[in-house]
Amino acid sequence: MLDLTGKNALVTGIANNRSIAWGIAQQLHKAGANIGVTYLPDPKGRFEKKVGELVKPLNPSLFLPCDVQNESQIEAVFETIGQKWNKLDILIHCLAFADKNDLSGEFTNLSREGFTKALDISAYSLTRLAKGAKPLMTDGGSIVTLTYLGGVKVVPNYNVMGVAKSALDMSVRYLAAELGSNNIRVNAISAGPIRTLASSAVGGILDMIHHVEKIAPLRRTVTQTEVGNAAAFLCSDLSSGITGQVLYVDAGYEIMGMAGFVS
Ligand SMILES: NC(=O)c1ccc[n+]([C@@H]2O[C@H](COP(=O)([O-])OP(=O)(O)OC[C@H]3O[C@@H](n4cnc5c(N)ncnc54)[C@H](O)[C@@H]3O)[C@@H](O)[C@H]2O)c1
Repeated sequence: MLDLTGKNALVTGIANNRSIAWGIAQQLHKAGANIGVTYLPDPKGRFEKKVGELVKPLNPSLFLPCDVQNESQIEAVFETIGQKWNKLDILIHCLAFADKNDLSGEFTNLSREGFTKALDISAYSLTRLAKGAKPLMTDGGSIVTLTYLGGVKVVPNYNVMGVAKSALDMSVRYLAAELGSNNIRVNAISAGPIRTLASSAVGGILDMIHHVEKIAPLRRTVTQTEVGNAAAFLCSDLSSGITGQVLYVDAGYEIMGMAGFVS
């Protein structure tokens, strides 16, 4: 049985009720995990208020600001976990960012700044958070991140985020290789396209979703809840032999060749 009772789970990346991280947090809570949530702080405190209201039904025992580009905020998160929880079992890395300008048009127009920012937030942050989690995962642990097919194959407009996801996928493997001796598993879920705040910045996201609905074996895309269920599995003892993997939760789209060809 999928049971996360007694597990402390830190979930990053909830922005609103469409967020994949929200789907994950709900399923981890349903499986009995004790939930902690981080949010991206903004000067007007809008995210804090909005995310705070949203997550109330999960009774989070930690609710902390964490911009992954801010070292002192990252340190404060892990310090607080050490003080209040004593140990961490689950880390959900469910965040990404690229400037909207870099998510359409010609790839050669990508600026050095755009590249650096997207890779720092969307890929490096996994390694930085894993570094903070490692000494707190004293009973072993599970780290799960969110990736996309655009890091393996060229997807129109995904551009710099494809490069970031590629770096993220490889980070999963290096982290899994290092942390395995601490019984810490590291895996990624490659989700099919879902309408969210982040995905709406990718040029033509709605057309992408309609394309998947036509081509994917299940003739649809996936929901936040389906991704959440897969994450709960990867965080539970049911997946104790799995690490360093990318699990596709995409209604089967990834297996299709000659996408769009109709005989
Ligand atoms: N929506 C999709 O179609 C899809 C498909 C595959 C993978 N993903 C991935 O899922 C993850 C979650 O995205 P989502 O689609 O749920 O969108 P979302 O907009 O709901 O979530 C993105 C999150 O990233 C956070 N974030 C951005 N910059 C940050 C920073 N500097 N520090 C901390 N947090 C920051 C935002 O606050 C937000 O909560 C991302 O990694 C995304 O690439 C999404």
